[in-house]
Formats: sequence, C-alpha cells, structure tokens
Amino acid sequence: MTDTTEQDRVLIFDTTLRDGEQSPGATMSHAEKLEIAGLLDEMGVDIIEAGFPVASEGDFRAVKEIAERSQDSVICGLARANPGDIDRCWEAVRHAARPRIHTFIGTSPLHRAIPNLTQDEMAERIHETVSHARNLCDNVQWSPMDATRTEWDYLKRVVEIAIKAGATTINIPDTVGYTAPVESADLIRRLIAEVPGADEIVFATHCHNDLGMATANALAAVAGGARQIECTINGLGERAGNTALEEVVMALKVRGDIMPWTTRVDSTKIMNISRKVATVSGFPVQYNKAIVGKNAFAHESGIHQDGMLKNAETFEIMRPEDVGLAATSLVLGKHSGRAALRAKLEELGYKLAENQLGDVFVRFKELADRKKEVYDEDIIALMRAGEDAANDHLVVQSLRVVCGTGAPAEAELAMTVGGETRQATATGDGPVDATFKAVREIWPNDARLELYQVHAVTEGTDAQATVSVRLEEEGNIATGQSADTDTVLASAKAYVNALNRLIVRRGRLGEDRKEVSYKDVS
Ligand code: KIV
Ligand code: ZN
Repeated sequence: MTDTTEQDRVLIFDTTLRDGEQSPGATMSHAEKLEIAGLLDEMGVDIIEAGFPVASEGDFRAVKEIAERSQDSVICGLARANPGDIDRCWEAVRHAARPRIHTFIGTSPLHRAIPNLTQDEMAERIHETVSHARNLCDNVQWSPMDATRTEWDYLKRVVEIAIKAGATTINIPDTVGYTAPVESADLIRRLIAEVPGADEIVFATHCHNDLGMATANALAAVAGGARQIECTINGLGERAGNTALEEVVMALKVRGDIMPWTTRVDSTKIMNISRKVATVSGFPVQYNKAIVGKNAFAHESGIHQDGMLKNAETFEIMRPEDVGLAATSLVLGKHSGRAALRAKLEELGYKLAENQLGDVFVRFKELADRKKEVYDEDIIALMRAGEDAANDHLVVQSLRVVCGTGAPAEAELAMTVGGETRQATATGDGPVDATFKAVREIWPNDARLELYQVHAVTEGTDAQATVSVRLEEEGNIATGQSADTDTVLASAKAYVNALNRLIVRRGRLGEDRKEVSYKDVS
C-alpha cells in the first residue's frame, strides 16, 4: 500500500454470515442470507464473508448465490487448511465479480496440538495450502487462528511463509478475545516492521469480545497499521460476539480527529440492517447497545431532556439520522392509508411489490384495529410475521386460551404442518405452558426450552409483546421470535418459529448441514 488515500482507508470485512451465523442459535435461512448480503453490498461493505462452503450443501449454495448476485463487494468464503476445503470454497466464490478465498489454521500451541502437527509440519502445511489457494484465486486471505496466543517468533515465521506463498491479506485473529488495545496495536506494528514482504499486503484485525474490548482492540490494530477490520452487524458472533461493524464505522466517523481513517460504509443504512440481523438471527439487540440499541439515542432524565431541547449536541455526539434513525418518525394508525404505509415501509428499508403491499396492508389494518398507534417497531414485527408464514413448515393458525383462578389453563390450538391443518387441546400450568403442550401434541419433539423472554415492543397496555424462545435439541440451538398484542399468541408463534429453525438446522426437510470441526485441517 503506497499512496496516501489507500493508507487512510480502512476496509470493512463483514463476517455476519460466517462468524456471526456460527453463533449457537443464530441460524439463518437461505433467503435471509441473500437478503443480508444484498444489504451489506448496498451499504458499502468492502468484503463480505458469505459462509463456510464445505460445511454443507446449504452453506455452499448460499455462498455461490451471494457471489453470483454480488455488485461491488468482494465475496469471500472460509476454508480450512486442506485442498478439499479450498477447492470447494473456490467453486462457490468464483462466481463473484471479485472473489476471495480465506484459509486459516490454528497456530497457537493449544491449536497446534489438536491436529498434532509440529511447528515445521504446520509451516509446511501453510505454504502448501496458501499456494494452492493462490493458484486458484489472486485474492487470498490467510489467518493464523488464535494469533494473539501464538509464540511471537512462530507467528512471525508463519506470516512470512503465507506472504511468500501468495497471501494478499494477512488477518490476525484474537480468536478468544484475549488481547488488549496496547498489545493489539503493538502486534500489528511489529509484524509490519519485522516480517519481510509485510509492506506489500494488507493486515486485517479480527477481534472477539470476550473481555468487552473487541471494538477497542480493532481500532488499536488500525492505529498499529491494520487496514482491514473484520466485524459483524450488532457484534453477532460466538460467545460474547465479534467487533460490531456499527461501532467501528461510527467511531471512525465521529472521532476522525484522532483516528484519521475512513470507510466506504454508508452509515445511514446501519439501523435497517441491524434490525434485520436481529430479527433473522433471533438475537435481540440489548437496549443499551452502542449505536443500535433502543436507548442509544433516548434521553430520559430531566437534565438531559432540557439540554437536548436547547442544543442536541449537549448530550449527542452523533445524530440519529447518521445511523438511519428518522429524526421525526411518523406514527401510523387505523386511518392511515396504503400510501402512508408504503412510505413508512420504505423509510424502514422494505421495498415491496404492489401485491406484497396489499397483503401487508391487510395485516396492518388488523393490527391498527387492535392498537391505537402503530409504531415503527410494530411494523417491523408485522413484516417479520409475514416472512415466517411464507416459508415455514409449521404455522400457527388459531389459538384460544382459557385461564384464570380455579382451574388449570387450557389451550385449543390449530396449526398447519407442511400445509395440513392439525388441532390439539392441552391443559397446563398457566396459559403459556398449556399452549406449548398443545404445540408438542401436534409436533412431538424433545427440544429443551432454554430461554423464554417477553418484551413490550412499545409503551401502553395495548403494546405488542415480542417473545423470544430458545430451544436446544441434540446440540442444535435455535432462537425464535414473534410479536403480537396477545402475549400468549406471540409465545406460541415464537415457540413454533424456533421449531421451524430447528427443522432447518437438523436437516429434517432435506438440508444436510454436517457439523464440521475447525480442528479438521487435513
Ligand atoms: O476467530 C477466529 O479465529 C476466526 C478465524 C476462522 C478467522 O473466526
Ligand atoms: Zn472469529
């Protein structure tokens, strides 16, 4: 990297669809992955890591189709350090206008012990696999997994080998979120200074958030000379997640005075994609999450509100509009027409054909009859409910619940299973228990309920309830969500939504995801 503009630019590499999706319970459907990839491309993400093609037919198809549809973004696939994985990855990404192969191997003592390779054997493997990838594709990224716990001399040696074998990007992963900002900057700085050929390639930083320092570590790595940040929307990812895209993008934008690096990302698209990822992954965004949390721009205390009214800059370092939150949001109601609904949907990032709008309008009117004011969050929940009904194997049709004092609660449920209507009645310890038992009567399963959570979408007793349900079945985890003004109905739909995700994950309906181990390098 020689010219100044390149030096000032930081590439944004989004791995929501690979490292994010890998998070237990965050499974996304094929259509959802395509939609997220489209939004990432549109918002100016430089590189999209679209998946791990060898993991399953489904992953392969998703990466291939994302590659075929890509516009400006480089499309990258992940591959372990063996020729089979790399070939399969290339098969999927080669359809992109700008493909990239990303291959990796765990280089720390703990990770070397798993395939039982000596330092020399692993070095040889790195040379072979990076050369193999480079013979297929001229854009190759290599990662020494667990780099931050790899011995310095060995890290330096393998980075040099990968560069000599043709890697064009070297990613330095902090796989277990172990590093701290000073060390993160220093590591990159020293690699650039000491590894021959380091000035010819791009260094990337890939941080996990186990100690809550992923964003700080990524920005420190940039100060040390990294020019690619790997991140996910909402910080989605295994355990405590990855560096959050919205945090690094906004930090660079707001503090350009002390961090003089820019990205190509259109920050006004952040809110829409954040909501989309939260919905499809089933991982709600915590209320006080930086940039995209519900409270990130809310000012509750009297002093803050007073200051805000006089001058917004007293308590706001960025404007809501900068991240795509409308400054004044139009609230819809039962008198709102199709044009108002269309405008609102467009504001929220939904582009619908006329027939789709007709269907949403009918459901919007039903909701507006039950609820005086329909807020943005209600519309988003409504859209999500429609997507479920269109694609799911199990669909709740009707629910009647009798509950109160004096007798056990009773639920009468009708559900379609692959299009065929089935009914069941069950009693239980409260309305939700009775309802879940009725679901199990219709669709017997051994899934264990790990989480049941209810949030009010907006204020008031007529507010919709968003219910999240997390299920575990034979090691597979799926999170389902739904919203309705009727909390028990929302619970039934969330439970069924999680079951639908388990069905996809377990391959009951033809998906064949095989669990591949990162340890299997050969
Ligand atoms: O965290 C990590 O080390 C990874 C690698 C596969 C790059 O995600
Ligand atoms: Zn990772």
